[in-house]
Amino acid sequence: MEFDLTVHLNPAYRIRIARGTLQQVRIPEKQVVVIADSQIAPLYAPALIASLEQGGSSVYLLTIPAGEVAKTLAIHAQLLSQLAQLGLTRDSAVVALGGGATSDLAGYVAASYLRGIAFYVCPTTLLAMVDASVGGKTGVNLPEGKNLVGAFHQPKAVFMDTNTLESLPLRTFREGAAELFKHGLLANPQLCAAVLETGFNATHSNLEQTLASGVQVKIDIVERDPTEQNERAYLNFGHTLAHALEAITHHAVPHGEAVGYGMHYAALLGKNMGYTDLSPQTKAFLEYQRPMPLPELNWVSVRDFMARDKKADNAGVRFVLLEAIGKPKLERVPEAVLEQTWAGFLAFLAA
Ligand code: GLY
Repeated sequence: MEFDLTVHLNPAYRIRIARGTLQQVRIPEKQVVVIADSQIAPLYAPALIASLEQGGSSVYLLTIPAGEVAKTLAIHAQLLSQLAQLGLTRDSAVVALGGGATSDLAGYVAASYLRGIAFYVCPTTLLAMVDASVGGKTGVNLPEGKNLVGAFHQPKAVFMDTNTLESLPLRTFREGAAELFKHGLLANPQLCAAVLETGFNATHSNLEQTLASGVQVKIDIVERDPTEQNERAYLNFGHTLAHALEAITHHAVPHGEAVGYGMHYAALLGKNMGYTDLSPQTKAFLEYQRPMPLPELNWVSVRDFMARDKKADNAGVRFVLLEAIGKPKLERVPEAVLEQTWAGFLAFLAA
């Protein structure tokens, strides 16, 4: 199945979800830089470049290291210099090919070069398709924290080729499923059921439909709140603990698995704050996802990392809680409840 979704911002842009769409990428810009990491480039850059060239573009490929390590100001500066050396003008474009780290970095290059040039995304992981490639958040990390430098720079189009998901290890695919499940809890319970369906993987007949429904949840939120003044923060459901787990384990726990754990902790928090108990659902997701076991964690360091969350203000950390499925809210949770819930979370892990 094929889907064409539209993000109604000014200007609007299209998200194409289809098998083989990398072979049909046509854009109007004549000078194009494709940015891909060293693992993804050999797999998919030849097909993308051939299709851009068939459309009349001259294409240069720039490769970056794989993973979050590439999201530095140093690599950002290096890419900007490469664009300048290639003589790229304001009417040229950057195309990100790969996962979320690549589109974050490449998007920030596009946002900052000549104060902003055209940007396109070809995500190749489920995580990037559901989350990073939609909504225009771009940026790099600082030693002090993740995504502390960046810009909102919406893409001109997103091309999701679901064939690329077939080369992902199942574990990596299931990382992306965490964001789909999260979108289900935020706005579409049928999506939760679709993710938990037996055999939900890259070849599942329902993949494109499920992906389109998940992406639509994000589109709806981004359209209402493109620069995260309020509602867009709901997309951080499960991410406050997730970011702490990633930081403490130096990314040994990958993002999607940290989000799986983080959603369960947030569901237990909601229950302890008197809201609908959604922990059976988040537990079912963890049973589907089968994340790596967590190492022993010290509550004080978890709490301190959570306190650095971007949703924190002078009065402390705020969590995205769910009063019920489809009813998210941002709420400050008393320290005693955070700690008591942590004890419940550890008991769940030990069971
Ligand atoms: N990843 C959350 C957002 O795009 O707002």
